[in-house]
Amino acid sequence: MLKGQIKVSSDSRISEIDPRLYGSFIEHLGRAVYEGIYQPGNPNADENGYRQDVLAAVRKLNVPIVRYPGGNFVSGYNWEDSVGPKETRPKRLDLAWRSLETNEFGLHEFVKWAEMANSEVNMAVNLGTRGVDAARNVVEYCNFPSGTYWSDLRRKNGAEKPFGIKTWCLGNEMDGPWQIGAKTAQEYGRLANEAAKAMKWVDDSIELVACGSSSMENPTFGSWEETVLDETYDNIDYLSLHRYYGNQENDLQNYLAKSLDLDEFISSVVAICDAVKARKHSKKTINLSMDEWNVWYHSNNQDKEIKPWQVAPPLLEDIYNFEDALLVGCLLITLLKHSDRVKIACLAQLVNVIAPIMTNDQGVWLQSIFYPFMQVSQYGRGVALNTVTKSESYKAKDFDEVPYLESIATLDEEHREISIFAVNRSSKETMDLDFVADGFSNLKLLGATQFCGYDIKATNEDAKMDLQELNEISVDGSVQAKLQPLSWNVIRLGY
Ligand code: AHR
Repeated sequence: MLKGQIKVSSDSRISEIDPRLYGSFIEHLGRAVYEGIYQPGNPNADENGYRQDVLAAVRKLNVPIVRYPGGNFVSGYNWEDSVGPKETRPKRLDLAWRSLETNEFGLHEFVKWAEMANSEVNMAVNLGTRGVDAARNVVEYCNFPSGTYWSDLRRKNGAEKPFGIKTWCLGNEMDGPWQIGAKTAQEYGRLANEAAKAMKWVDDSIELVACGSSSMENPTFGSWEETVLDETYDNIDYLSLHRYYGNQENDLQNYLAKSLDLDEFISSVVAICDAVKARKHSKKTINLSMDEWNVWYHSNNQDKEIKPWQVAPPLLEDIYNFEDALLVGCLLITLLKHSDRVKIACLAQLVNVIAPIMTNDQGVWLQSIFYPFMQVSQYGRGVALNTVTKSESYKAKDFDEVPYLESIATLDEEHREISIFAVNRSSKETMDLDFVADGFSNLKLLGATQFCGYDIKATNEDAKMDLQELNEISVDGSVQAKLQPLSWNVIRLGY
């Protein structure tokens, strides 16, 4: 039997958790918008075409912010195409995904959808084919009250009140050769800075995210961040990171250790931000927006067979299995460990496209990864506690020392609750977990669940997966629990 120990103390804290850590992402890609959140005529859609079954599932995830409209799509996007009467909106080639974009669903429709989903919008501007002018105009259209060309056009198009969009991305993955209008760090840094200045001159309450590297493997990783920060430091608020994982080699123990890679990626970018801060003698700290993260690899081959220039082709439809859910749990714990610097994160994506929620004409079904995300988003609010963990470890192909126990505890002072999130990475052994909380008295159990017992390759298309009660637990000053092999566990305590 493995042993795991977790120690927290009421006065040892990582940070307040920004609710935007539990954001997600809807791109005009595949069936995310069309047949995903919007499908006029579907029996589950309302009179405006919004899928109510999807909205109900999204609300369960408690997603406080949703990035839109891309992604690679945004680098060829004319936002003006997506407003005004639907019958006059142009049909365009989407070069990013080799699809057809009808623009039937646009900016107003998304703002309305986000409101129904209880989410804010994280809006991206096109710095691929476009620049400062389009960027400042869309901020004026969305956020300026009235009395100017663009704000009055918004009102004419049916939105009297400004949308009040607070968080904006300055382009997407501009370091990637696959990006429409990709740029060198110097080119992008200059453009992003000029766009940032103009956007904030229109509305100085907005927050801006500059593009960091789209992956740690990109040859420009590191120098890209330095150059972009050199150019933009005073006018931006966050630097982005993107990271996707896969188990292409079918090596479970190595796959489950990939959250250690995320940990290193985040620490490296924090170090670069702080080095630039020091060199600039600045008092301002740049925080991070992990605005794309997830597992993405299952659909790579099938996507090669999809014919180009269709409306809403079934692209990037990864079907997730149980091991993916365990990794997603470990990645969420890693994000919480860095919540002092990662203030925004977007699970990429939300519906149909590498997503926790899938649709068909009859309804929705929930992928395995839905469950850990839902639980952390629901209970991981408040403060992330400095969580000292101990357990045996193992050596994996790419990682020398992987602890069997991955865990963090959060504190919700308003509701006087502690939540413990824990993964047992061992495929063979149960773990005896001991949880000690200094500075909290009268601990009582509010609930404990486990997610385990499935074949690692099992998927949830047949809707057989669900959270189970964790019964082998006792609370008496400290907490003792048995964590099953390959399990995701959530223990909630009152104090
Ligand atoms: O989320 C899918 C794609 O991944 C996004 O469009 C792009 O930004 C990234 O490469």
